[in-house]
Amino acid sequence: MDPYKLKKDFPVLDDETLIYLDTAASSLKPKQVIKKLDEYYEKYSVNVHRGVYNLSYVATEMYEDSRNKVSAFINADFNEIIFTRGASSALNLVATSYGLNNLSSTDEIIVSELEHHSQVLPWQNVSNITKAKLVYVPLNKEGRITIENFKKVLNENTKVVALNYISNVMGYIAPIKEIIKLSHEVGAIVSVDAAQAAPHKRIDVKDLDCDFLSFSGHKMLGPTGIGVLYGKSKLLDEMPPIEFGGDMNDNVDLYEASWKEIPYKFETGTPGIAGAIGLGAAIDYIESIGLEEIAIHEKELKDYTIKKLEELKDITVYNKTAETGIITFNIDGVHPHDAVTFFDGDNICMRAGHHCAQLIIKWLEVVATLRVSFYLYNTVEDCDKFVESVKNARDFFKSVGF
Ligand code: ALA
Repeated sequence: MDPYKLKKDFPVLDDETLIYLDTAASSLKPKQVIKKLDEYYEKYSVNVHRGVYNLSYVATEMYEDSRNKVSAFINADFNEIIFTRGASSALNLVATSYGLNNLSSTDEIIVSELEHHSQVLPWQNVSNITKAKLVYVPLNKEGRITIENFKKVLNENTKVVALNYISNVMGYIAPIKEIIKLSHEVGAIVSVDAAQAAPHKRIDVKDLDCDFLSFSGHKMLGPTGIGVLYGKSKLLDEMPPIEFGGDMNDNVDLYEASWKEIPYKFETGTPGIAGAIGLGAAIDYIESIGLEEIAIHEKELKDYTIKKLEELKDITVYNKTAETGIITFNIDGVHPHDAVTFFDGDNICMRAGHHCAQLIIKWLEVVATLRVSFYLYNTVEDCDKFVESVKNARDFFKSVGF
């Protein structure tokens, strides 16, 4: 894998001074994906599933072909892939449709302080409405979800386990396969937030045996506004739709209606056609490089950068042992928003704040953090320039009395 060559595929990086270190928020998009979007809008920008004319057949075929690509990408069956607005919508669909219809006051839902708001808030809502108890896995000293701690909260009352595969703040990989196995032993279902996993790690839903798994397109080189919910067909068949309207229905009478088979009963209205087609192109692009290669590259950049940061004084890194390309840190005594503004002056894009995951920021006992996240287009030069900027930021803020 040659990141210098790959960089040329990303028009945003035509500005050679730009250093993009915010892939965990959203990845850049390669021209192959942009071209596919253009192709849809220029050549067959019509609706799917409705038109009895050739262009609509073409659009439908392209849209459904992307569903095929997504299913192959995570080893799911075609009808188990629901296109959503993003990972958040997918996670909300599980909580609203499955959670509200299956849980009651004697049940328990396991989450963790390592979750993105999109995984924990929908279950807070389910808990408030159904009175099912929300239970947190205690994190270990590093801030990880461990099997040992998971076993402490899992019991016969557990009905749902809703956890991340890779944390968007700490970059840790959770032992999700073992968690799923243990959860099934007590009859609980598992909804996996794979928003940070799908772009970086091979996922096989059959091997994991997860019940639900969600991710978004825009973090894996695809367009915004498209996400994926995988669900086991047996569960999806039994779940009610949460949105009602065109295309998801079968027969409609005055006071009742029936729904199409999965996945269509969950896809009402005109779907994100261009987004889905673009996501298909993003999957083609990723597969042409190889997820394994990408993951090795990111981890190498992360280890290299942490080593360099360790040579500097006054830097606290919170996730040194992360297995993926995320670094969460602070410059001691400097507010992350001040630091990130300094980095922007060096044309470095990265995120500061709570990263839509306030619980882990509170767990770390800080107000906010800085976060670097690498992808296939980052290079060792990016890391060097970034570390130099950290050093300069630290020296500048110290010199003005921070
Ligand atoms: N979930 C995204 C992040 O971690 C937006 O930054």
